[in-house]
Amino acid sequence: MTWKIPLFKIYWDDDDLKHVNKEIESGMNWAVGPQVPEFEKLLADEINSKYAVTFNSGTSALHALLIAHNIKKGDEVIVPSFTFISTANAPLFVGAKPVFADIEEETVGLDPKSVIDNITPKTKAILPVHYGGCPCKINELKEIAEDHGIILIEDAAEALGAKIKNKYVGTFGDSSILSFCQNKVITTGEGGAVVTESREIYEKLNLIRSHGRLETSNYFTSFEPFDYIQLGYNFRMSNLTAALGISQIKKLHKIINMRRTNSQYLSEKLSEIDQIKILSPPKDYYHVYQLLSVIAEDRDNLMSYLAEKGIMSKVYFDPVHQSQFYKNLGFKVDLPITEKISKSIVTLPMFPTLKKEEMDYMVEEIKKFYGLIL
Ligand SMILES: Cc1ncc(COP(=O)(O)O)c(C=O)c1O
Repeated sequence: MTWKIPLFKIYWDDDDLKHVNKEIESGMNWAVGPQVPEFEKLLADEINSKYAVTFNSGTSALHALLIAHNIKKGDEVIVPSFTFISTANAPLFVGAKPVFADIEEETVGLDPKSVIDNITPKTKAILPVHYGGCPCKINELKEIAEDHGIILIEDAAEALGAKIKNKYVGTFGDSSILSFCQNKVITTGEGGAVVTESREIYEKLNLIRSHGRLETSNYFTSFEPFDYIQLGYNFRMSNLTAALGISQIKKLHKIINMRRTNSQYLSEKLSEIDQIKILSPPKDYYHVYQLLSVIAEDRDNLMSYLAEKGIMSKVYFDPVHQSQFYKNLGFKVDLPITEKISKSIVTLPMFPTLKKEEMDYMVEEIKKFYGLIL
């Protein structure tokens, strides 16, 4: 279906083409090459973290990170159900159990109280999500993790550049993951990364993402023998992809400013509609609006109406614990806020090049749906 207004459009320019073309034209190093560590350095510097390790997706980054933190069978990891499924799948990848906690309504991130209620002697980690570019109550979660001697891993897939009082999300926990999938704040098509302060985790991740191979030079262009010292995967980001990552991250602030300006304009207009509730995080929270999600009365009919008018909207997220897969695994949990929010939340189109006329059209159609104008 072609939409008049799609949910997102990728922000790209000539610089992206130039960077990728240069690597293609080199005729070498399309898989492994110097763009990868350069992108990692830019990424770590951008959010004031010590190390970044890139991956071929945010999901691989989560998988590798749980292995690196030695999370395994018998361990429990507290996760939200209000998330993309890979947050909850990550503990399953390593044989551990995801334990679903509820969310709070201000940031729709994990509710610290619900996290405390779900801690058991088996709890090894807390894995909160910064939803749609909004920091969750990460300071409170960090305190809980420290009090209980539990690892804190941030799923910042949707929130590169978000911060609380100038401290970037991704730097509160022991380690964090990011995603560069096509609808994220910046994108490389597919891609992900871990950021961490720990040299030990950084070194483990380098092994896990590339076959457990000890790499002192470029495997493909070096004639030296390489040894394999543990089980590993091919979770690597390609050099071509990293070239795109470099040109994208150089535009990060511009992209975030455009997202914030548009979100502010649209939110102000939407606030005139009583049937719509705008999520508003605490004052010190810097939201980067990977998504603009609102709580809407009669949500499902609104979505169908908007679709007829060529405006795409989407439910981010239906609860993971209610998916067929998790039901079949026997997960039965009571998460009243998750269930309430999931039934009424809707994500509206939001992207850097969204035009005022497009936002005005969206607001006009929403008003028409609720019978506020003819
Ligand atoms: C909260 C969250 N966690 C993890 C992921 C996984 O990232 P990827 O799609 O890059 O594997 C996503 C992306 O959709 C996400 O939104």
